Amino acid sequence: MSTVSSLLSTKVSLSVAVFATMLGLAGCNKTEAPAEEATTETPVVEETAEAEATTPTATDGQTVTIYSSRNEQLIKPLLDQFTEETGINVELITDKTGPLMARLEAEGANTPADMLLTVDAGNLWQASQKGLLQPVQSETLDNNVPAKYRDPQGLWTGLSLRARTIFYDPSKVETNDLSTYEDLADPKWKGKLCLRTSKKVYNQSLVASMIEHLGAEKTEQIIRGWVDNLATDVFSDDTSMLEAIASGQCEVGIANSYYYGRILDENPDFPVKLFWANQGTTGTHVNVSGAGVVANSDNPEGALKLMEWLSSDKAQGLYASSDKEYPVKVGVDESDLLRSWGDFKADDINVQKFGELQTQAIQLMDKAGYK
Ligand SMILES: [Fe+2]
Repeated sequence: MSTVSSLLSTKVSLSVAVFATMLGLAGCNKTEAPAEEATTETPVVEETAEAEATTPTATDGQTVTIYSSRNEQLIKPLLDQFTEETGINVELITDKTGPLMARLEAEGANTPADMLLTVDAGNLWQASQKGLLQPVQSETLDNNVPAKYRDPQGLWTGLSLRARTIFYDPSKVETNDLSTYEDLADPKWKGKLCLRTSKKVYNQSLVASMIEHLGAEKTEQIIRGWVDNLATDVFSDDTSMLEAIASGQCEVGIANSYYYGRILDENPDFPVKLFWANQGTTGTHVNVSGAGVVANSDNPEGALKLMEWLSSDKAQGLYASSDKEYPVKVGVDESDLLRSWGDFKADDINVQKFGELQTQAIQLMDKAGYK
């Protein structure tokens, strides 16, 4: 990319400008948006033949900068392994998804970022809709990641799977009392249900999948039933929701599997059990954590190489188990803890739908009074 050198000097001065913007001083957004639009036409990055068999030779000194909303401790060992194997350095900038996307938008064509790594297909879809990602073509990703866990245009790919399912208090609830997310709207659960806030993208994606399967009208009825059955105010996070079940504030709730896994790590006798929802119907809702190549990256090849590496057998096992998630790559074993939860039928929906229906899901939850 011959433009790298000239861009660098511009980058420095513009980074100051961007910083200024973030501090709310006079905007220089005029500098970014048009350029960005132009750059989204950047040609599709072709997969490099030696993606798998790289040795730390020509790529030495190359750096891939990641904007990540993932827990740094969890992914740093993995990235260090990537550097060891490929000679490609990784610079990690960690923050919440919202600020990272705002930063990419503000930085525009002068962003130092090459890859966006985040959780939930709803977030990845948002980033692609904002033009922050560029399409890639990669046989490696096509082979390693099932199509339902990737953006059809190649704008992002899933790299690990997490299930959002039902958790219950086994001292009060029998497994045959449980079945579907929809059934939690039944009056038999009155004053027994705990939920995380509807403001969390995980719940927006769950409700989006219900709209896709059941339609908006039916889904709204169910959400109203959930709200009627709430035992407490909604929770700001899944962990405190699971602890509320354990402390007897409620009997059932919906959470992401890895939070449960993290609690069990600390307390193997945690008095809450996992139930695989919708096994007789659509299957349990699953979502991805994933990544995309930043539209204005000046090292898209390096970013693609890292995404391909993260989708490989070895990395998949490490990546998934490091955070008690499931590999997206078929045939890669999950960790012992996850295996102990038993096999389950996962919802077959393309996770891209969670983004497409996100706005409708948010409006519907609002209308139904789900805070
Ligand atoms: Fe999470």
